[in-house]
Amino acid sequence: MQAKHKKYLETMGIEIWQQRGCADGCANCTCDSDSSCQDNPSLSELEQLVLKCSKCALQKTRNNVVFGVGNPNADLMFVAEAPGANEDAQGEPFVGRAGKLLDSMFGAMRLKRDDIYIANILKCRPPNNRDPLPEEIKVCTPYLQKQIAIIKPKLIIALGRIAAHHLLATNTPLGKLRGQIHSYGDEQTPLLVTYHPAYLLRAPGEKAKAYVDVQRIQKFLATGEL
Ligand code: URA
Repeated sequence: MQAKHKKYLETMGIEIWQQRGCADGCANCTCDSDSSCQDNPSLSELEQLVLKCSKCALQKTRNNVVFGVGNPNADLMFVAEAPGANEDAQGEPFVGRAGKLLDSMFGAMRLKRDDIYIANILKCRPPNNRDPLPEEIKVCTPYLQKQIAIIKPKLIIALGRIAAHHLLATNTPLGKLRGQIHSYGDEQTPLLVTYHPAYLLRAPGEKAKAYVDVQRIQKFLATGEL
């Protein structure tokens, strides 16, 4: 329930019954159980909520929550799996070696970080960079869903297997998902899958394929076609 409506009802002396943890009982709720529901938070309101998240055990080991970075009106949104050690230390996605490579991919598209938006499925670093656990993904996913709903990107790029599998709810190998046009969510936002930059650092031979993906994204930006 929006604060405005709540206030009207309170002014009229009408008692409000609200399900704890979510005003509308929706699956996408991002509020914690003790706060009133933010039905339509702005990106910065959502960020404030996420920064104090305590929904899973990663809150105990994180140094910083890594909410996401970039242009809230971006046409392109890149989604990866989870912060690593550098990101956890700085509170920003992709600030390590993989981030440098990602920046050079943006450069090849004549884009800067300010032109796009980057987020992860998990907002906190899994210890020792292990894969995200299903229960961590479950509690963190509403945050990413809200980010996507607020930013309304024209194209989502899933970086790597874990992001692709989660966003597309599939276990199909990344090599098969790459090169196809997928769509995400009720809005059917077009989605492409490409290699995670950390993988490209380990397998530089695959960079040529990633460059093909970069060109495809560039074409989309120029023509609106994939
Ligand atoms: N790897 C990711 O998946 N996300 C980051 O933010 C950094 C490295």
